[in-house]
Amino acid sequence: MSPPALPRLSGRRVLVGVSGSIAAYKAADLVRQLRHAGAEVRVVMTRGATAFVTPLTFEALSAHPVLDSALQTDQGAIGHVELAYWAEALVVAPATAQVLAKLAAGLADDALTTTALSVNGPLLVAPAMESRMWHHPATQHNVATLRDRGAVVVGPARGDLASGRAGDGRLVEPADIVAAVGAALGPGDYAGRVVLVTAGPTAEDLDPVRYLTNRSSGKMGYALAQAAAGRGAEVVLIHGPTALPAPAGVEMVAVRSAQQMHDAVFARRDRADVIIMAAAVADYRPAAVSEQKRKKGDGPLTIAFERTPDILAALGASDFAGTLVGFAAETENIEAYAKDKLARKQCDVICANDVSAGQGFGAEDNHLRLFFKDGRDLDLGRGRKAALAQRILDEVRPA
Ligand code: CTP
Repeated sequence: MSPPALPRLSGRRVLVGVSGSIAAYKAADLVRQLRHAGAEVRVVMTRGATAFVTPLTFEALSAHPVLDSALQTDQGAIGHVELAYWAEALVVAPATAQVLAKLAAGLADDALTTTALSVNGPLLVAPAMESRMWHHPATQHNVATLRDRGAVVVGPARGDLASGRAGDGRLVEPADIVAAVGAALGPGDYAGRVVLVTAGPTAEDLDPVRYLTNRSSGKMGYALAQAAAGRGAEVVLIHGPTALPAPAGVEMVAVRSAQQMHDAVFARRDRADVIIMAAAVADYRPAAVSEQKRKKGDGPLTIAFERTPDILAALGASDFAGTLVGFAAETENIEAYAKDKLARKQCDVICANDVSAGQGFGAEDNHLRLFFKDGRDLDLGRGRKAALAQRILDEVRPA
């Protein structure tokens, strides 16, 4: 039988819970295959699991720190609550009889079970145990309880077991678990939509060796692109120079100047259902770009600047029929300036952030307020850019 084709999981956030079974080594392949399908993967382990496979293995395969203690405060590792909020789905593989019992009872006495209680999305369990343990009425009762609550039980398969006996209780193949994750997550609420995002700074050349730019890191735009891809959108990310890795499953278009970003956006505008201008586009560029390196003189230097095209305003004034979202970074009078920008640039939503307190540029966190064309406004509060990106997408999703 050929293995099932891997589903497209671009940007989906899958938490893998590993419990203490000899089959824990197969969870390593599961993490690899989930990532191959485009998912972002984090791993949480029980103490028992760490006796079979080291957290380092999963750290290397997932490219993230592994949570193996509910009390963990290691640098870089995120706590169980944040991990649970991050996850779109939790897949426990292998799931021992013990962990199934704890999940059924709602016990929370280690990193995995504590995290499991705060995950909102689908729970999948892939049992692995000795055959009699699987068939024991207690285990069957626990599995039935989990199923009743909506959990997806994948397997177990029949075959050779670690005990040397044959029977039910083998962990199913990782590809089957990946397929089940894809089915449980579904296509996403942006399936069939095209989202165009701009991100990062632009760079305006003065001569072949010098240019003007700004402090934008691109994180907000990249978070939006990643979140939209994770919700099933076809995403085009038009970005200025940034140091960020390309989000999985996103079409990347690298540009440098405001003019190039303008042209790249307009070339793709007709395909887009939603355009989100998160880039910090330069408002001015040197009026003349010297073909040769400018030589210094003895006196002061004055450079003439001219306006760059305002991409957002041009889109607002055009016949673009989709949803148009702009950003505003303000240090004062946030509401008045944001509303003015909304009207002037004719967009549907302005996401305003207060950069007065050093927030915004380069930070992981942001404080955003949304202002809508119909006069509504919504304070999204302070949060991680990844979480705010999800909230923005909730608000700007086309009907
Ligand atoms: N923007 C754009 N093209 C430009 C400049 C900005 O599309 N040439 C977009 C940004 O991507 C962002 C919004 O417009 O979505 C920000 O507006 P902008 O006028 O740049 O804000 P400020 O520079 O803060 O404006 P002001 O100087 O009026 O405060």
